[in-house]
Amino acid sequence: MSVKKDPDLNQLLNNPTVLRVIDNINPEASERRDYQPPVCAAFEKPYTVLKETDRYNFTLHNAARKQLPNLIDNKVQIVEGVDEGNSDFIAQYKQPRNIGIVFSGGPAPGGHNVIAGIYDAAKAANPDSIIYGFLVGPDGIIENEAIELTADLVNAYRNLGGFTMIKTGRAKIDTREKMDLSRTTCEKLDLDALVIVGGDDSNTNAAFLAQDLFDAGVQVVGVPKTIDGDIQVRDDDGNVLCAMSFGFHTAARSFANAISNLCTDCSSDVKYWHICKVMGRVASHLALEVALQTHANMTLIGEDLANYVDARRLDKADREGSIDYHAYGMTLRHLSRVICDGIVKRAAAGKNYGVIVIPEGVLEFINEIQVFIIKLNTIIAHYNQTHDTDFHSDFARLEDKLDYLRRLAQRSREDSNFKLWNTRDDDLFNNIPSFFQEGLLMERDSHGNFPFSQVETEKVLMGLVKDYLNILKEEGAYRLGIQNDYYQKTLANTAYDPDKFGPALFENYGQAKYLLVKPSIISVKTLRRSLKAAGLLKAKDEIPAAVEKIYRKSIPNFKTQIHFYGYDGRGNDPTRFDCIYTYNLGLTVFSLIANGATGQMAAIRNLEKDFSKWQPIGIPIAPLMHLEERKGKLALVLEKSIVDVNSVAFKIVESQREEWLAAVPGQDNFRRPGPIRFTGKSEEERPITLELNALARDDD
Ligand code: FBP
Repeated sequence: MSVKKDPDLNQLLNNPTVLRVIDNINPEASERRDYQPPVCAAFEKPYTVLKETDRYNFTLHNAARKQLPNLIDNKVQIVEGVDEGNSDFIAQYKQPRNIGIVFSGGPAPGGHNVIAGIYDAAKAANPDSIIYGFLVGPDGIIENEAIELTADLVNAYRNLGGFTMIKTGRAKIDTREKMDLSRTTCEKLDLDALVIVGGDDSNTNAAFLAQDLFDAGVQVVGVPKTIDGDIQVRDDDGNVLCAMSFGFHTAARSFANAISNLCTDCSSDVKYWHICKVMGRVASHLALEVALQTHANMTLIGEDLANYVDARRLDKADREGSIDYHAYGMTLRHLSRVICDGIVKRAAAGKNYGVIVIPEGVLEFINEIQVFIIKLNTIIAHYNQTHDTDFHSDFARLEDKLDYLRRLAQRSREDSNFKLWNTRDDDLFNNIPSFFQEGLLMERDSHGNFPFSQVETEKVLMGLVKDYLNILKEEGAYRLGIQNDYYQKTLANTAYDPDKFGPALFENYGQAKYLLVKPSIISVKTLRRSLKAAGLLKAKDEIPAAVEKIYRKSIPNFKTQIHFYGYDGRGNDPTRFDCIYTYNLGLTVFSLIANGATGQMAAIRNLEKDFSKWQPIGIPIAPLMHLEERKGKLALVLEKSIVDVNSVAFKIVESQREEWLAAVPGQDNFRRPGPIRFTGKSEEERPITLELNALARDDD
């Protein structure tokens, strides 16, 4: 017998297989790093210029004119490539520049390519230009925490996901003090330009910084980032300037792949409902794209729920000559009924499994919850403004917070002018589970946003669904359909005649492929009663085992698995679409800077079309601003774009609801988007939502 020696670790560590395994850079990563994205036609020329256009119309807000006077008249700028220019232009274009870049908000795949695009363009124009990366978000600007980005650093992250190179953060430069500190940083680094890669709030912030730094000659340019896909810019006439923020495609593809795998799993194991919450703080764009990618059985779209009108309530109120305000908008309870309806229908077709997609921000569109969110936002903001402390530190425990709310309700009883939190609010709030109370009272971020990602929406909703399914079960309305062939076979194996027992047992015997046990049979006792009434059992007879087996099989066991798709997709390596999009955004940023623009957001028009039609542009941020309530005050912000329920993408999903629910015998209609692949042809070239929505337009 041979004696095995312990392996020599030093030798092992030099083994080529081990070396390959312990190397951080695997073939996929190095292939990504080496990939050079194609560039838009304008960037194939040695220089670019900006052509202002009056083709796009915006309604300018008075507050924006007042607060952003140097930016409000900015126009849309088209980036065009040129072969040459006069000596002043060339000197200006090629001057050495110091450019600072910061990531703001949640990571979105493609951010590193924005940096790579800026870096390549700036160094090509002048190798002496310096690109600084501010560390861990806007705090890096405030505290002057910056690093110089080198070729090695930039190359190490090309086409790779995350914001790992310089990290990100959610701080907001929203006070005079922070503005001044930011100005000091710009002076210390002698910055010519500052690039803010962020969402709606961060681009809003970019405009205010652009205004504040205008006199210092520091240009500020924004870049539309967020997996949520809620930065989409149209002018007043509906012309699309920015169809989608970067990162959306990758996150949606990543979620869709995982959810499609669950579709495969549940239709194999036929025992679970997979409940998939997908990110998207407010808007349901990601859920909509996931629905198109996977054809999951049910996908809730928040914006659709907000439009809900309860026709039955309206009719009743009409008949009574009254107005029922509760008929408008969806309640949590009603939503749970809608979900139950789908579950019950599928069960009747023998499918006690499926996949439900719930958008993270769905609560924003549920009337009763939205009221709580708004009221609590105001209470917290008001507390923080009037006290020199912070609501969450002063009331650290849930009981303390509830106690404070109770005192407000008490105040409303004593002071009729105080309407913010009344006894009814307090009673309703005390009726919801404590984990949900805790969620609704969670600390808001620096922009005053509600932290939907931390609230277990799916738990609240599925709790109601389970309760209602139990009621339906007791009423005999939630039944697993029994395949007729199976029933015939099971009884034929015994001495019992299926045709005799069938009509006593099922409500649709002889009429359907899947048989439904009569609603009156809700227990073995009622089963016995029914068989006796049909003359199939005598007083002391046992229920035939095969019949009882069929009955027991018809009682569904509702089992769920809960999943949250968010951080994983946010960290995915970008799709080719996002790689190319972001690299060209970076080139666009440099073009805006080199041509003196400020207060503009870099964008690419025609993303839904073939790459040859992509057009880099600068969008003026100030004209996009409107007033919104933030932290209890009205503030100028960039409007979030939510799902348009009249869009082609939504209409298609709506039209396919029954198909995808597949509450009929036979296969489901799942789609297999597959994983994100960097090479090969399997991946869609762009978000399906974009392609569909473009069908309604014929602009070039
Ligand atoms: P941004 O809008 O900053 O891009 O963030 C998007 C997002 O991923 C949301 O989908 C999600 O609700 C939120 O960030 C989660 O925030 P956090 O990272 O603070 O948990």
